[in-house]
Amino acid sequence: MIFALFGPPGSGKGTQAKNLVKTLGIPQLSTGDMLREAIKEGSALGLEAKEFMNKGQLVPDSVMIGLIRSRIQAPDCKQGFMLDGFPRTVAQAEALDTMLVDLGLSMEHVVSFLVDRKELISRLSGRLVCSNCGASYHEASKPPKKAGICDICGGPVIKREDDRAEVVEARLETFHASTKPVEDYYRAKGRLREIQAAGQENEVFQRILKAIGEPQKG
Ligand code: AP5
Repeated sequence: MIFALFGPPGSGKGTQAKNLVKTLGIPQLSTGDMLREAIKEGSALGLEAKEFMNKGQLVPDSVMIGLIRSRIQAPDCKQGFMLDGFPRTVAQAEALDTMLVDLGLSMEHVVSFLVDRKELISRLSGRLVCSNCGASYHEASKPPKKAGICDICGGPVIKREDDRAEVVEARLETFHASTKPVEDYYRAKGRLREIQAAGQENEVFQRILKAIGEPQKG
């Protein structure tokens, strides 16, 4: 099974991807997490990506396409995978289609998360993340049990650098200018599955399962 989670910053893609990994047993391929890992390692990719990420801009397509091309061929992707944060431009979507055809694979569903702007800003302004395992929390609606410590791995829970108000504005603008057209690309191919991503985390999770044709859980 191959599918993508698509939506604006703060729409809940990362949160739901972690839930889906547990239920479906396929890996989450988050390009944002890959870039943050490269920044932590201080690699050349990390240094290049940081410049774009801290301004709320996209990292160049050639870099992102290369990253995904090698990642989807790793052994843990043999039974399928879930893309989170990729593709983010029409050029990335076209490149992905070519890669999948070359590998004899196809992606049936692109799940698009619908959330209004006010809710996105409230989610991002209160977001906390584990810098070790990437788990997402929120200061008001989902705080970690012990302040500053991840419930799952015990790692440090911090604010993301690109969640500063001015960067959030830029990320939302980038989404509308460069990423939103990807929806039309998949709609035209009959692969877009729109879901309401406001509401309780579990309700959203059930909507995703339905959208990808999986039986509902719990
Ligand atoms: P990336 O890390 O992909 O960031 P993003 O798409 O902006 O998405 P976020 O991680 O901000 O949000 P999310 O949808 O995962 O929400 P979350 O679950 O955390 O990318 C970062 C940067 O990397 C980009 O800006 C770009 O520079 C670069 N990049 C990455 N991929 C790229 C690509 N393909 N091409 C070029 N550049 C690329 O939830 C948010 C908050 O809401 C949390 O606090 C959570 O607890 C809360 N929440 C979740 N669900 C609910 C709910 N149902 N109700 C209430 N609160 C909820």
